[in-house]
Amino acid sequence: MRVLELYCGIGGCAAALEGAADVVLAVDTSRRALAVYARNFAHPAAARSLEGMPASEFQRLAADLWWMSPPCQPYTSRGLRRDLDDPRAASFLVLLERLAEVRPPYLALENVPAFADSRACARLLDVLARCGYEARTLLLCPSELGMANLRQRFYLVAGLGPLLPWPALPGGARLRIADFLDPRPSPSLWLAPDIARRYEHALDRVDPADPLARTSCFTASYGRAIVRSGSYLITPRGLRRFSPDEILRLLGFPSWYTLPPDLSHDHAWPLLGNSLSVPAVRHVLAAILALAAPGPPGLLPLT
Ligand SMILES: C[S@@+](CC[C@H](N)C(=O)[O-])C[C@H]1O[C@@H](n2cnc3c(N)ncnc32)[C@H](O)[C@@H]1O
Repeated sequence: MRVLELYCGIGGCAAALEGAADVVLAVDTSRRALAVYARNFAHPAAARSLEGMPASEFQRLAADLWWMSPPCQPYTSRGLRRDLDDPRAASFLVLLERLAEVRPPYLALENVPAFADSRACARLLDVLARCGYEARTLLLCPSELGMANLRQRFYLVAGLGPLLPWPALPGGARLRIADFLDPRPSPSLWLAPDIARRYEHALDRVDPADPLARTSCFTASYGRAIVRSGSYLITPRGLRRFSPDEILRLLGFPSWYTLPPDLSHDHAWPLLGNSLSVPAVRHVLAAILALAAPGPPGLLPLT
């Protein structure tokens, strides 16, 4: 299967597809994200704005599946929920036109849960229905797949042919936060004691000794915003942030996937906060591709 990875970021979808499909092109405007992408994948990744890609180019690529993770800010309260009036939704509207023109056999999309009630989603469902697609949607959190990370997202799969049933969610076994931690965390991750004290009641703190603890969703503002951007780890020396490598593992990226050693934490956190849960994407894409089942969690690749 030939896959087009639109809004590819650091390649969460390509990581989920590992070995099961060929990504023929990945596209994103962020050169920083693409530098991480190119370090991990050999296939082409282009620094392009999707608005500028004509239908003829999509036709020439002849992809069986278009994967897209469009910017979520138009649908979040932090992004003011301007929906289709937000300039960051402009490329999505252009893609809907391309979709109707090119009609790829399959399409899949990931976004924040609020996307489900947006005009953007209604417009997408309308285009899919008019073009003869069968479409199915799902709200899924990686914690339902046994991961120690909360990141509920809206997913849509659509096909001109029939879709496969989604696999049953694995019950029982789950990974613990302690399974994802760096052996020698950087001292720079610890919060200054006065900050920890000032925000004591507003920080989401997780105890690695608690086998049921799960981190909250890491957002693109982790490291910049103190509250509501992700969890802090309780340690004997005080509270610390999770390192980019720890978040990469919590997101379920495979062990061969690496961040550039010279990428600062401040630059890595936004890229990871924008990315996605790899096991959740594998689960969703099982409606389209014969992918190995995502669970049980103990078998997920970990470093
Ligand atoms: C939600 S993130 C997707 C991240 C990706 N799924 C990953 O695994 O890292 C949205 C991405 O869309 C990119 N983007 C925003 N507007 C774009 C446009 N007009 N054309 C191409 N990429 C765009 C951003 O740079 C960002 O990387």
